[in-house]
Amino acid sequence: MMETLVTFLLTGSLIQGVLCGFNINLPKRVEALKGSCVFIPCTFDIDQQYKDDLTDSAKRMWFKDGGSTAVFNSSRPKTRPLKGEIFGTATQKNCTTRIDNVRQSHNGSYYFRLEANGKLQYNYTEPTHSQVQIGVLGSPPKPTLSVFKDQQKVMKKEVEVIEGSSVSLRCSTKIFCPSRPPSLTWSSSLIESVTGQQYQSQTELISDLNFTVSHRHHRVTFTCTAAHQLQKQITKQESRLLSVQYAPKNTSVRINPAGLVLEGRSVTLSCSSDANPAVNYTWYRDTERPLNPVQTGPNLTINNTDPTHSGRYYCTVENKHGTQNSSVLLDVQCEYYE
Ligand SMILES: *[C@@H]1O[C@H](CO)[C@@H](O)[C@H](O)[C@H]1NC(C)=O
Ligand SMILES: *[C@@H]1O[C@H](CO)[C@@H](O)[C@H](O)[C@H]1NC(C)=O
Ligand SMILES: *[C@@H]1O[C@H](CO)[C@@H](O)[C@H](O)[C@H]1NC(C)=O
Ligand SMILES: *[C@@H]1O[C@H](CO)[C@@H](O)[C@H](O)[C@H]1NC(C)=O
Ligand SMILES: *[C@@H]1O[C@H](CO)[C@@H](O)[C@H](O)[C@H]1NC(C)=O
Ligand SMILES: *[C@@H]1O[C@H](CO)[C@@H](O)[C@H](O)[C@H]1NC(C)=O
Ligand SMILES: *[C@@H]1O[C@H](CO)[C@@H](O)[C@H](O)[C@H]1NC(C)=O
Ligand SMILES: *[C@@H]1O[C@H](CO)[C@@H](O)[C@H](O)[C@H]1NC(C)=O
Ligand SMILES: *[C@@H]1O[C@H](CO)[C@@H](O)[C@H](O)[C@H]1NC(C)=O
Ligand SMILES: *[C@@H]1O[C@H](CO)[C@@H](O)[C@H](O)[C@H]1NC(C)=O
Repeated sequence: MMETLVTFLLTGSLIQGVLCGFNINLPKRVEALKGSCVFIPCTFDIDQQYKDDLTDSAKRMWFKDGGSTAVFNSSRPKTRPLKGEIFGTATQKNCTTRIDNVRQSHNGSYYFRLEANGKLQYNYTEPTHSQVQIGVLGSPPKPTLSVFKDQQKVMKKEVEVIEGSSVSLRCSTKIFCPSRPPSLTWSSSLIESVTGQQYQSQTELISDLNFTVSHRHHRVTFTCTAAHQLQKQITKQESRLLSVQYAPKNTSVRINPAGLVLEGRSVTLSCSSDANPAVNYTWYRDTERPLNPVQTGPNLTINNTDPTHSGRYYCTVENKHGTQNSSVLLDVQCEYYE
């Protein structure tokens, strides 16, 4: 048992010894957008025994899995099938590459090959080394829109918030080609324009819309649009609808019919209020005690009026976020018979 382990360890370190110098640092997969450019960050290393063979005239090239000719050759960077640029120099051990005008046929797995003087000719292929998978998207993806209320991410398409709380809408989109970055813009069904705070990393563009919610945002849709500059501009968008809960506002009472009320006629007092959720209504008269019998509902109707009905009527509305009242003076006039 012990012996096997020792043998294994020895064998393991032997294999390592042979390969230890050759190494490549590559992402496993990069996503590319058709018509755009793509960056492959890459560095490599060689076995020290070949270090004198590595000069800046060494060719750095890419092969597509299964193909036998280089698809990208640092000596001839402007020729097809892949156009672009390999950055830095061979002695900097840099193999970072930009591929321009990505096409659907570029989708696939690629490995790096170094061709220098003498014996230094090496394929960084699987399974010993990692290769890069270029996944080509036919059209840009939708931007990602996330909503946070009180720092908590909300997963629903319709976002329930309470007036006065703070929400943050974050829109982000991938930057495929840093030299032609996309743009993000916000729009909403409010009349006023909305501008987000924008920041970006190497690979992502973010726009934040942070604000304190007011009742004006109720049933307002916020849309984030990502515009990608390809052969023509392609836009993709994502939206969220806000549903805002708020205390009653603009409570008012109307008398119907308007004007003087003649004794014996009927009159309706109508109370209205803007609130979410909807309010309930309680009617009071002069005093702050409810009418007897208690009157609820938006309308208070008195069918057969007489002068004792004259006075001030209050409508008090309430939902779980607050209460408000409004009043009206009812003046019942005697009818004069001649
Ligand atoms: C490296 O790749 C090239 C191109 O596919 C191929 O011609 C060559 O035989 C490979 N060399 C080794 C050692 O696998
Ligand atoms: C890369 O380009 C150089 C210069 O044109 C050429 O000598 C070499 O054969 C090319 N290598 C491959 C693998 O195409
Ligand atoms: C390789 O080149 C790229 C592009 O010029 C650069 O951003 C990167 O820092 C270089 N990497 C190293 C290890 O020098
Ligand atoms: C891209 O290539 C991978 C393998 O490299 C394959 O699995 C995938 O289906 C290809 N996608 C397209 C759209 O051709
Ligand atoms: C917006 O709010 C989020 C979450 O609270 C925060 O991480 C972000 O920094 C804010 N952005 C701006 C531009 O204030
Ligand atoms: C209240 O009424 C005023 C005037 O009609 C209007 O400008 C305001 O938007 C209303 N407020 C609400 C919450 O409906
Ligand atoms: C009406 O509102 C006022 C001011 O908020 C309050 O003082 C009063 O008690 C309310 N009256 C009723 C009948 O609710
Ligand atoms: C209240 O009265 C108004 C007219 O004044 C009418 O349009 C409305 O339907 C009535 N509402 C109820 C709940 O009776
Ligand atoms: C007023 O009259 C209408 C119809 O004439 C009736 O439905 C309603 O119950 C009456 N209201 C009161 C408070 O008497
Ligand atoms: C009105 O609604 C409030 C809050 O939802 C509740 O506490 C109250 O009891 C209701 N009043 C009536 C008369 O229904």
